[in-house]
Amino acid sequence: MPKAIDLAYVTYQATDLGLMEEFMHDFGLVTAERRNDLLFLRGADSAPFVHVTRLGSNSKFLGGGLRMASRADLDELASMPGSSPVEKVEDWPGGGWRVRMIAPDGFIVDAVWGQKEVETLSHRPRNPVNWGDNKERVNASLRPKREAGLVLRLGHFVLRVTNHAETLSWFQTRFGLLTSDVMCVPGDESKIIGTFVRFDRGSQPVDHHCLLINEASEIGVHHCSFEMQDIDAVMGAHDYLVSKGHKLDVGVGRHLIGSQIFDYWRDPFGFRVEHYTDGDVANNNYKGLNYQVSAEDTTQWGSDPTPDFFH
Ligand SMILES: [Fe+2]
Repeated sequence: MPKAIDLAYVTYQATDLGLMEEFMHDFGLVTAERRNDLLFLRGADSAPFVHVTRLGSNSKFLGGGLRMASRADLDELASMPGSSPVEKVEDWPGGGWRVRMIAPDGFIVDAVWGQKEVETLSHRPRNPVNWGDNKERVNASLRPKREAGLVLRLGHFVLRVTNHAETLSWFQTRFGLLTSDVMCVPGDESKIIGTFVRFDRGSQPVDHHCLLINEASEIGVHHCSFEMQDIDAVMGAHDYLVSKGHKLDVGVGRHLIGSQIFDYWRDPFGFRVEHYTDGDVANNNYKGLNYQVSAEDTTQWGSDPTPDFFH
């Protein structure tokens, strides 16, 4: 089975690239390349870009890309029904090779391999913490700033789909994704409404989820999410985004499933984007749990979700 090892990017269409770019700079992404009809944004890590916006007559989520373990994975994917042949990527930063597929509900999903990495961007290292039982900071003070953060990397995205089982199977057979935790209707374990999946890198820990597949009435993306180095980065960015007049969605809080400290914002086109830090990681030994949870249970502390968060 082909195996993906990381997320590569998420892709959107929007009516104004300048507006997207301005917001994303405040949010903590950096322009990798801006063209008349395309905007590529990156984080601090070595990925050439993690967020793509295509100029269009309306705004919508298009899909995403996953990075494959080997070139042979692309050949295998290309032989599956509905896949493009293996294409050399000539026109996007980082180049490499790609197989383009259409997932259920019409999402455009790329499998990529061989992208050229770029130099990482320097950022403030994580702050040392004086834990109750372990003091990491001696003869030193913290001076975090209310400033735009610089996100490190794309952590996950969440799809709202018509048929949960069909989409889950589509992704798992193409990308070798492991099931982390499952969300089902309270009182009915058989009624699954969402599955968190992660990459299979054997004994190496990976994020608790790179993708959450949710069955919902409204199809599209729920949010995409970017990792920051510590809670000071999340909180400093929060205050900065408030000061710039951007629209807070939900945050700050601590999730139940995945344990992330989260902060959700709306971009100028209404798409949710999340900052997170201190999320769970798991290797292939992790046996997932079946959570019977209502919407209110998904936040352990902090800001509760808005009524439309789970629609
Ligand atoms: Fe998230």
